[in-house]
Amino acid sequence: MKKSRIIKVFDTTLRDGEQAPGCSMHLNEKIEAAKQLEALGVDIIEAGFPISSKGDLESVRSIAGAVKNCSVAGLARATKIDIDAAAEALGGAANPRIHTFIATSDIHLEYKLKMSKEQVLERASEMVKYARNKCADVQFSAEDATRSNWEFLREVFEAVIKAGATTLNVPDTVGYTTPDEMYKLIKYLKKSVDGIDKVTIAVHCHNDLGLAVANTLAGIRAGAGQAECTVNGLGERAGNAALEEIVMGLKTREAYFKATTHINTQQLYRTSKLIYNLIGHTAPLNKPIIGTNAFLHEAGIHQHGVLSNKATYEIMTPESIGIVKGKMVMGKHSGKHAFVDRLKDLGYDNLTADEVEALFVKFKALCDKKKDITDRDIEALVSTKKSQLIGGNIYTLEDFEISSGKGKKAIAVITIKTDKGQLLKETCPGDGPVDAGYRAIDKITGLTPELEAYKIDATSDGKDSLGEVTVRLKIDGKSITGRGLSTDIIEASILAYINAINKK
Ligand code: KIV
Ligand code: ZN
Repeated sequence: MKKSRIIKVFDTTLRDGEQAPGCSMHLNEKIEAAKQLEALGVDIIEAGFPISSKGDLESVRSIAGAVKNCSVAGLARATKIDIDAAAEALGGAANPRIHTFIATSDIHLEYKLKMSKEQVLERASEMVKYARNKCADVQFSAEDATRSNWEFLREVFEAVIKAGATTLNVPDTVGYTTPDEMYKLIKYLKKSVDGIDKVTIAVHCHNDLGLAVANTLAGIRAGAGQAECTVNGLGERAGNAALEEIVMGLKTREAYFKATTHINTQQLYRTSKLIYNLIGHTAPLNKPIIGTNAFLHEAGIHQHGVLSNKATYEIMTPESIGIVKGKMVMGKHSGKHAFVDRLKDLGYDNLTADEVEALFVKFKALCDKKKDITDRDIEALVSTKKSQLIGGNIYTLEDFEISSGKGKKAIAVITIKTDKGQLLKETCPGDGPVDAGYRAIDKITGLTPELEAYKIDATSDGKDSLGEVTVRLKIDGKSITGRGLSTDIIEASILAYINAINKK
């Protein structure tokens, strides 16, 4: 059998994904995500768009310094200042890549760029040359490629190959193409672009018609060697092609695609969870690969089949994406050894001794309130602790008392301790206990964050479940996620709010 081609995975969760509304991350959260992407085995991490803001430049710089086993890319329009900013941000990267782009479709040329085809051709070629003088690895993207004239696309690609581009990207920027059309376009480029065999062809698909993964796989089948994607399919509008779906599509149908990736698929579930945690979202139940229902078999006929032979209804196993076998329940008789083992089984093998100790204290405190501690409880303990570590503790909750009742105004009395040891107490009425608590905190901190999102989940069934609250606050124009965990949901709400403020 012919050997499978290795498809490079270019992850743009931290650029195309993070720029979507409600998906922003704190610098330290981006670094944590980048390290997990490295553990997952992606080939290239697109860490940001350095010219777009100081924060983006800093995060590309920090990720470039933190990640060593994969390339780190920075995005740049086809202008010198953008390319300079990307080169500066990537200065410390072990394997830097400048990713420069310009649109090639008639509609973008006329209404956005106000440039002629000749001007775009010249700019693309000049800027790739300029970038190549700063970096040996230069990716060029023809924005809106799938709505561009194919002959013009051919001319642009030929010019940028001559100028030194090492990867040519074919973005379906507005999610407009179809699998058949993408297949033909890649075949056309492979046949007609002079020098194409010296470079890697990439496909970058958006999901406006729900075809992003199908279009990506069609591009790969036609000969593309790089798939651009985001974890959980995050991205503007309907998002980008989902990394986990492309990777498992190739793994499950390797004989058909004759292609595979370097991804460690057992890290997929953990990566997906981490990214959702960082942005304060959860997967839809039926999301392919990583949704709660993705491996459940409810229908009797399916259950019967699966019991006789899993392959009757299961085309891949939960274990293959890193879902831990056999949920284990722990409790107050579980010692530190068992707790540490369980952390490892759940994939948390890179925690420091101090972090493990702090988590064990929390675990023991939880055992006093809750009889059975599930994997989901432990996962919530870890992600909340990590969120608190990112935020630091400028403010900590010292005490709270809230009264509320049917037809009565809620009143909150909140006491907060500052990192200087000062105790600050305020009393405030509100429209319900959470609102009253948040207003009292605003009085104490002098801040007036906008509550963009509030979400509460139970970590297990049963009345003694932990309440896991995630909030997203807008402070000084920045969206920040905070997390709080407690068997008391009002306390969890307050802790989440304080955690977000601490990340300001
Ligand atoms: O969708 C797109 O066209 C992009 C480019 C910048 C590659 O994200
Ligand atoms: Zn895009």
